[in-house]
Amino acid sequence: MRRFSADYLTATRRGMWDDRSALAPLALDSRTRILDVGCGTGELTRVLREESDAEVVAVDADCALLAEAEADARAMGDATRLPFRDDAFDLVVCQALLINLPDPRRAIEEFARVSADLVACVEPDNAGVVVESSVAAEAPLAKRARDTYIAGVETDVTLGSSATALLREAGLSDVEGRRYEHERTVQPPYDAPALDAAKAKAAGTRIEEQAPTLRRGGLSRTDVDDLKSEWKAMGRDVVDAMAAGEYERRAVVPFYVVAGRVEASDATRVDGDGHGDDAERPTDDGPVERTTDGGRADDAERASEARDVTETDVGRDATDAPER
Ligand SMILES: C[S@@+](CC[C@H](N)C(=O)[O-])C[C@H]1O[C@@H](n2cnc3c(N)ncnc32)[C@H](O)[C@@H]1O
Repeated sequence: MRRFSADYLTATRRGMWDDRSALAPLALDSRTRILDVGCGTGELTRVLREESDAEVVAVDADCALLAEAEADARAMGDATRLPFRDDAFDLVVCQALLINLPDPRRAIEEFARVSADLVACVEPDNAGVVVESSVAAEAPLAKRARDTYIAGVETDVTLGSSATALLREAGLSDVEGRRYEHERTVQPPYDAPALDAAKAKAAGTRIEEQAPTLRRGGLSRTDVDDLKSEWKAMGRDVVDAMAAGEYERRAVVPFYVVAGRVEASDATRVDGDGHGDDAERPTDDGPVERTTDGGRADDAERASEARDVTETDVGRDATDAPER
């Protein structure tokens, strides 16, 4: 499974949901139980809780990240084998999860199993990222590194722009998508993450970490070394420009918010209670941790939904993509 640091997630999501209009297709104000899958440190979970009175449950396969997420309940779990009964939520959503999965369609089908109404995703298209920088070499180098990374990485990190088709192929109906641009800027005065990022550029850290992916993307070891040298020289220019208070950078990352409706399942039609057939879902109360009382859910029901899920290996590349 591709791993992320809490610092990376916090820094890259800063300001992402200052404008929440793109979340309109999720109809957050009418939800009663929401599941955020692959919640990480809970950057989207927080927005869901602010925009809805629903009980918001957060799931992730990484327990260190999950521990940072503030939710009404948290559960360790795999996106393709969720520890919940059929139709347990009226919205199941993820942000920047599918681009990290080898079989994103399987995850969407699992979302549809545990949702009685909507399934949604918020996913970037890394091929559409645009970088502008006051250091002339930065934008073309970033594009070269990003394009090579995309060619070599083992999951589809451009998935956002095809997420509408993915949800339709997974059997969802009334699929609606919106493009949303997350702009990240660096300008004086520089904060600690910006200074750290500049130092990492000057050290060539990211290129070295991504060397295996860049090799799969078509670069020879010599090509990677050359790219790293150019990257470090660019990084030194960035550090110098920051020291002079003259560095500015703007990156625009396109995200796609896509939502689709779950067709009523046969089990739902037979039961007529909207809860489907739980017979094949083993139950135990292991992984769900309630984080607030809230009084908005039935504890017994919640405990019966949980089952032990072990972490699965969802990909061997442990490096950060150029922008994720
Ligand atoms: C790029 S992060 C996104 C985190 C958060 N949604 C956000 O946007 O800030 C991807 C998250 O998915 C989690 N993840 C990856 N594979 C998973 C899987 N198979 N099941 C559940 N979570 C998974 C990772 O641990 C990580 O927290």
